[in-house]
Amino acid sequence: MCDDELIPPRADLTEKQWLRADAPLARDLADRWGPQALTLHRRTLLGGAAAGAALAVLPFGGRQATAAQGVAKFPFPDGPNQKGEFAVLVTGDAGTGGEEQLAVTEAARRVCRDEGISLAVGLGDNIYENGPESDHDSEFRTKFETPNTGIDVPWLMVLGNHDCSGLIPGSGGDPSRGDREVSYAASSPRWYMPSRYYNVTLPSSEGQGAGDDPVVEFFALDTNPVASTVAQISPHYRWDGPYMRAQRQWLDAALSASRARWKVVLGHHPYLNNGKHGSAGSYDGFVIGHYTSGIHLKELYEEVVCGRADLILSGHDHTLQVLEPTTRTAGTRQIVCGAAAKSGDGKAHFDHPAAWENFSDVGFMVLKVSERAMTVDTYTVDVPARTAHLAHTTTTSTAVAGRSSVG
Ligand SMILES: [Fe+2]
Repeated sequence: MCDDELIPPRADLTEKQWLRADAPLARDLADRWGPQALTLHRRTLLGGAAAGAALAVLPFGGRQATAAQGVAKFPFPDGPNQKGEFAVLVTGDAGTGGEEQLAVTEAARRVCRDEGISLAVGLGDNIYENGPESDHDSEFRTKFETPNTGIDVPWLMVLGNHDCSGLIPGSGGDPSRGDREVSYAASSPRWYMPSRYYNVTLPSSEGQGAGDDPVVEFFALDTNPVASTVAQISPHYRWDGPYMRAQRQWLDAALSASRARWKVVLGHHPYLNNGKHGSAGSYDGFVIGHYTSGIHLKELYEEVVCGRADLILSGHDHTLQVLEPTTRTAGTRQIVCGAAAKSGDGKAHFDHPAAWENFSDVGFMVLKVSERAMTVDTYTVDVPARTAHLAHTTTTSTAVAGRSSVG
């Protein structure tokens, strides 16, 4: 939820219950989004049915949409750049198509060239306000392809609440809409989302020589069913339903199986967050219910991720935060990077230990990994000048399992 979004009147109502209980809100939606807003639910249901036809059976009994193969994709890097690193552009909450997004991408393009990036990450809220209406929606062009022209690398895309919203923008109340973003991967050279959650290694396992382990592995999550501002109606996407059970089982097994030097979890909603939305378990001040508070996402992060991944990269809050690894996180560092098109409200709302944080500017980060070290560079962007400023650098030399020095 953003400054221009709506705060639910109470936790865990469904979208229909919410609107029935709040007639002024329903009128406001019609005013803001046009009379079609209140008929959107029918389109949502139809879209969900169509996407459901593309569901595939996965290991562990889970079901996900999977992308068909079509367009030639930009290749994954098979080796480090001239500096001996894999450099990765990190952006979040980018999909407005507005001036701020264009300024950030123009500034980032120059940094990407200088740093030799070979991969990019989009941490969700890829298509504001309600995600795409189809897998060929023109918003993919105006809010992703055109702004990111020239950053011609694979983009690991993560689903955000705006990508999975039904009637109420940002509610996350209709996860099935995210299937359109999975399907879109077949049409784009840069958009990479083979399924709603997935993992990627660098160098790819195909490029490994015998005995070589990957330098870094990314684990992209779909956090939306357990961090929505409304209750999930579909039994499939309930907090205790088959989808979240399968995702947890997959993540646990994938982290255990990983031989990568560095492990990075990508999830739109943060575990810890000093911005106004707060942390999992108490999102937006809610501490009750199964959805609005994010209590079950907190469980997932604490029980499966903390102490096993070096980084959690999240968006959702439109801020830039490099939080410190602590005993609570079992050495995992939370990073919030959701300011690629919108900025925060200018102040910290919580006091989790931070190496650096910014609540006022738009910007992005560059993650650089080698066998020796993992570095996160944070850039703020001057929107009128469309220029980036390196605001902070943090380097870690020891992976989470044996972390001993953080600088
Ligand atoms: Fe979000």
